[in-house]
Amino acid sequence: KTGYFTYDPGFTSTASCDSAITYIDGEKGILTHRGYKIEDLAEKCDFLEVAYLLLHKELPTQKQFADYHHEISMHTLLHEQLINFYKGFRRDAHPMAVMVGVVGALSAFYHDSLDLHDPDQRELASTRLIAKMPSMAAMAYKYSVGQPFVYPQNNLKYAENFLHMMFAVPSYDYQVNPVLAKAMNLIFILHADHEQNASTSTVRLASSSSANPFACIAAGIASLWGPAHGGANEAVLNMLTQIADKSRIPEFIKRAKDKNDPFRLMGFGHRVYKNYDPRAQILRASCHEVIEELSVKNEHLLEIALELEKIALNDAYFVEKKLFPNVDFYSGIILKAMGIPTTMFTVLFALARTAGWVAQWREMIEDPIQKIGRPRQRYIGPVQRKFIALEQR
Ligand code: SDX
Repeated sequence: KTGYFTYDPGFTSTASCDSAITYIDGEKGILTHRGYKIEDLAEKCDFLEVAYLLLHKELPTQKQFADYHHEISMHTLLHEQLINFYKGFRRDAHPMAVMVGVVGALSAFYHDSLDLHDPDQRELASTRLIAKMPSMAAMAYKYSVGQPFVYPQNNLKYAENFLHMMFAVPSYDYQVNPVLAKAMNLIFILHADHEQNASTSTVRLASSSSANPFACIAAGIASLWGPAHGGANEAVLNMLTQIADKSRIPEFIKRAKDKNDPFRLMGFGHRVYKNYDPRAQILRASCHEVIEELSVKNEHLLEIALELEKIALNDAYFVEKKLFPNVDFYSGIILKAMGIPTTMFTVLFALARTAGWVAQWREMIEDPIQKIGRPRQRYIGPVQRKFIALEQR
């Protein structure tokens, strides 16, 4: 085991850590969590089963799953004073700005789960983070639209509870549409963990100094926000909306290939996948089902996305550079069909990825020989220079 980052002669930074949580084969487009194929988990699990698997290395038995769901439901409420943090933001603050602030602030409220070296406190911090993310995310949405906060309902499943907090209003008895709940659960599972991506590496590096878990997850949220990473789902929707018509796709493909144009085809390309992202495959298949079952009017966005994919995957530039659709290319179309505003897309990514961040954090903290991360550099600045006093300069 070496230190955290090791620079190889090619000066491409490689995060060198051992992990038993997630395996990706970028050439073959394979993704597994603790040895289980993402396709099986996505089709057959509740999100909390996958969270349990990531954290405890095994899929839960029925009793373990029931106990875990009960444990999580006991921690879905936020300390009431945290509501004041929301009220300090402008209504038009980006919900990710709110999440960075509020998640970091949990450190100021839950003093009995800050000590990483106490296993009970580590467990409590893990449970609180996974339990409270849906409440905090839904509150960020409610605050942005000026509606009252909705408290969690412990009798609901994880994805259902989130949707209830997002869309229920006091004036009538809101029932979560099972199609929405199924799609939300799928989205959460597909975003749960993905090895040592930028935000997970941020969480691991921050945690390596023994900073408290809430502060480290807030650091992960900040890193995920970037449009090159988790912010891409929002950027894909904005791009598809900007394209607006299939006839304009060649213009955007041309721009994406132009080195002098900063425009990138959002939702395409990946640091690891040089084949189709298996998560994108699954989402692509469920797009039609969700749009049909919700009978929403945004199939034109899906048609643009499918045509864009078809043109790009037959274009020499994308083929040679092995640029395929990634998880963000189709997720936004489903989220929009579900009535989720684009500004909330990355918040949902952070909500789901908290299970992976927490699992990766635990794996690192519980490694007895883990040292503080200390990336090195290749110095390319000036060599020793003679100092000249200010008066002579
Ligand atoms: C996520 O790491 C993870 O696992 C992340 C993630 C997770 O679950 O945590 O999977 C989630 O972040 C997915 C990625 C979402 N981001 C986007 O969709 C934004 C658009 N994609 C690009 O910005 C880009 O593809 C990156 C940032 C994802 C990767 O960029 P790299 O490292 O430059 O990719 P690369 O080395 O494979 O690029 C090869 C070439 C380069 O050109 P050359 O230097 O060879 O001339 O392809 C070009 C790139 O400039 N290229 C693109 C492109 N992506 C790469 N050209 C046009 N459009 C694109 N989308």
